[in-house]
Amino acid sequence: PRTYSLALLPGDGVGPEVTAEAARVLDACAAAFGFAIETSEHPVGGAGLDADNDPLPRATLDACLDADAVFLGAVGGPQWDGVDADLRPERGLLRLRARLGAFANLRPVAVSEALAERSPLRPERVAGTDLLIVRELTGGIYFGRPRERTETEAYDTMRYSVTEIERIARVAFEWAQKRSGRLTSVDKANVLASSALWRDVVSRIGADEYPDVALEHLYVDNAAMQVVCDPRRFDVVVTGNLFGDVLSDLAATLPGTLGLLPSASLGGRAGLFEPVHGSAPDIAGRGLANPLAAILSAAMLLDAVDEAEAATAVRQAVESVLDDGPLPPDLGGDAHTADVGAAVADAVASPTLSHP
Ligand code: NAD
Ligand code: IPM
Ligand code: MN
Repeated sequence: PRTYSLALLPGDGVGPEVTAEAARVLDACAAAFGFAIETSEHPVGGAGLDADNDPLPRATLDACLDADAVFLGAVGGPQWDGVDADLRPERGLLRLRARLGAFANLRPVAVSEALAERSPLRPERVAGTDLLIVRELTGGIYFGRPRERTETEAYDTMRYSVTEIERIARVAFEWAQKRSGRLTSVDKANVLASSALWRDVVSRIGADEYPDVALEHLYVDNAAMQVVCDPRRFDVVVTGNLFGDVLSDLAATLPGTLGLLPSASLGGRAGLFEPVHGSAPDIAGRGLANPLAAILSAAMLLDAVDEAEAATAVRQAVESVLDDGPLPPDLGGDAHTADVGAAVADAVASPTLSHP
């Protein structure tokens, strides 16, 4: 059968809990759609530090570079807050993204009528939201040099090259063409040199290569306000690494929980798939985490390896669980992480039973 090698990196906190459910759903898909997944599991983040004194152990990186796809749960936690900056669990994840060449981070946010009812925002404002944040992931202030901390001061460098902006802009324009034909680029070009370059390059790529896409530019402060007040005005949003990080957690207010937001990071040979949320130390180890963000990330993985039918089945199974339960606590239910994952896996295996 068609066979995919998958490097599974559960990580820390709720990472292992939600990764187990994503893996369960992927296995159900393999059985239902006639392909095989060869899974290997590796430590990353705090787990990597504990096992190998490295948040991205060599063997973990090698396995990821060899795999067809990489799935990561989450990294970080208070246990490791004291370690050296370069050894923090989060550094392991940043190094992995860079080594995989995963420069294009796709973070879709969709809010159905049913989810809108539970949103902390007014349902009539958020129902029908369907936006895609395209976040640049391997550049900007996360990676810029110099970076330094001394006794008396510290600094980071927000740096973007023309090439880095061109390639992320093209990814975003392609998505805009496939979707509504609208693209919003978010920056701080009124203040930052790197953003002024960003705006010029995105405009040029649009005019030269995608004249059919309607491009608008927004400053990030205004964009943050509009994501909350009028989310349906957005379709595809392209932005830099730091702004995309903040805007995507902000956009989690629309469905009302981070527990629903998936992501795919593409650009290299193998994609990296991870929920947008972190290790959630406040709820870890108790079966309280919503696994749907991880499961929807697995659906993005299936799309990336061209198992589109299976990806659609997973999304339909998630819809049916959102309609009929069982729901995890962040969505108002009392189901455990594993019960939610099992329900999605069951619905994938027998779609007609759960979705007439
Ligand atoms: P977080 O995303 O872990 O949690 C933020 C809030 O959302 C918490 O209240 C948490 O309980 C809730 N939440 C998150 N995921 C949930 C889920 N699946 N179901 C239900 N509720 C969920 O952010 P934080 O608390 O700021 O960070 C905790 C640690 O995670 C830090 O070490 C941080 O660096 C790390 N982090 C890692 C990633 C990643 O691995 N990709 C992403 C973000 C944060
Ligand atoms: C995310 C996380 C990461 C980021 C951290 C853990 C490095 O917040 O994936 O959104 O800032 O990119
Ligand atoms: Mn984040």
